[in-house]
Amino acid sequence: MTIEARQPYAATMTSTLSRTAPIQEHIDGAIQELFASLPNPDRLSAEEQCAIIARYTAVLEGNFIYWMTAAYLSVASTEAHAIIRSNLLEEVRDNHPGMLRRFAVAARSIPTDRDALAVSRHLHGVREFVGHLSGARIVIMMAFFEGFIQRFMPYLEDLAKRQGSSETQYTDVHGVCDIAHTQELFHALEAELALMDTPPTAALFEGVGLLRALLLTIVHGVEER
Ligand SMILES: [Fe+2]
Repeated sequence: MTIEARQPYAATMTSTLSRTAPIQEHIDGAIQELFASLPNPDRLSAEEQCAIIARYTAVLEGNFIYWMTAAYLSVASTEAHAIIRSNLLEEVRDNHPGMLRRFAVAARSIPTDRDALAVSRHLHGVREFVGHLSGARIVIMMAFFEGFIQRFMPYLEDLAKRQGSSETQYTDVHGVCDIAHTQELFHALEAELALMDTPPTAALFEGVGLLRALLLTIVHGVEER
């Protein structure tokens, strides 16, 4: 059985401009595909449930702000700078990494070396991509990331509750604020695309593909070597 969570995202996708519509469609499809592959928590052992939280934390805690900063450094338009700056301000001011750490601790799912190793190959791939500082492509990847995170929160919270956790600040905040963040990133993207000569092509989705591989590793882990 798979978790179906299609309904809220489509509703958030209505108010955007036409230039980014095909990109939003692509991202929405990638998110739906990821959700279709989520394992049913009932069929996971407690250890496997904890491992998903731990791998998620291993990736998000130290990289989200770093990648959003790369987006800030990469974009050219005033509008995109303002939108991404406000996103970063919220992350830093409200200490989102600390919020996530508390969530992982309460779920007894603090990342270990094993969790870091499990995500390391695909994490490296995303870092290499981000290092190219390609504005529109990073913004597209981050819009995909925010959209995924927002919809992943009920699943993540369910896993944590199964470990006896009642700490929900991280999932509460990200289940709500990332809806707006995703839309704002599409506005930032619109501003960036307006400065570009070439129309959107498949190359714009390179970061989405790399991040998708990383998110699959968070959810499913990797074979032990
Ligand atoms: Fe956050």
